[in-house]
Amino acid sequence: MAKLHLFLAVLSLCSILSCPGAYSATFTLVNQCGYTVWPGLLSGAGTPPLPTTGFALQPGESNSVPVPPSWSGRLWGRTSCSTDPTGRFTCVTGDCGSGTTECSGAGGAPPVTLAEFTLNGAGGMDFYDVSLVDGYNLPMLLAPRGGTGGNCTVTGCTAELNGGCPSELRVNQDSDGGEVVGCKSACLALGDPRFCCSGAYATPDTCKPTSFSEYFKSLCPRAYSYAYDDGTSTFTCASADYVVTFCPTPTNSQKQGQLAGSVSLVTSGSGKSSRFHALLAAVMVMQDCGIPKIGTRESCCGILE
Ligand SMILES: *[C@@H]1O[C@H](CO)[C@@H](O)[C@H](O)[C@H]1NC(C)=O
Repeated sequence: MAKLHLFLAVLSLCSILSCPGAYSATFTLVNQCGYTVWPGLLSGAGTPPLPTTGFALQPGESNSVPVPPSWSGRLWGRTSCSTDPTGRFTCVTGDCGSGTTECSGAGGAPPVTLAEFTLNGAGGMDFYDVSLVDGYNLPMLLAPRGGTGGNCTVTGCTAELNGGCPSELRVNQDSDGGEVVGCKSACLALGDPRFCCSGAYATPDTCKPTSFSEYFKSLCPRAYSYAYDDGTSTFTCASADYVVTFCPTPTNSQKQGQLAGSVSLVTSGSGKSSRFHALLAAVMVMQDCGIPKIGTRESCCGILE
């Protein structure tokens, strides 16, 4: 009997704290690349932390991350990661320098494709974008789910930009060459204020697209290609969850190999997108109710389970 009372007390405490409701949105990260991607997540200054700052996603795998209200920050994919004999974890692209799979407050080394968020910002809207301002390492799609208002549509950079990257901007797998694994922004590679929108070029009127930024914009028209690219690159939505897919178009990936999981099989045509979303919804329901991998209800309500 005492046990039952304790149980009920904990249960009502849990409902007062509204355990799952402590999070306002969900990010579902999906890896459709033919290789492992290690997402990194960085919370902005003064924003509540996420339950994870980095983990591995095998080909075909997806993982949901609960996101607190008014969160702002960025996420990206790290590639070609390994652990050296001393136990230190590093990645050829997007490395956050932490030495472990968790980034623990560090950002990814450019060039890296970024998904950027400000949730519940001005007017209660979420602001989101995919940015190539710091360069590119892999294709990424950012899709709101269940949101309303604003220009609440899919954005991202689904093209493979490494193969055609201008030679001045290329990053190779190894210092002595090998596969192109990243494409730097001109600002990062050349440091010219014209490319960086700095110094005399620090306003929207003086900083204009360049032939380098136009390489990114022509292939990824919805992504930020330079600092003042806001008009065509910022999207808004209210009360949405977000699905971030690495290598959304299987044939666009250089390293594309076999794909695991049904999610990857239904994304090749736009006409199939509703099936894709239905499948993603199913994946999310399974993850929310069945096997939460990252401390959501486990950390808050674990005492009941
Ligand atoms: C989306 O809406 C915002 C806010 O009105 C606007 O600033 C932005 O330019 C719009 N984005 C696109 C891609 O049209």
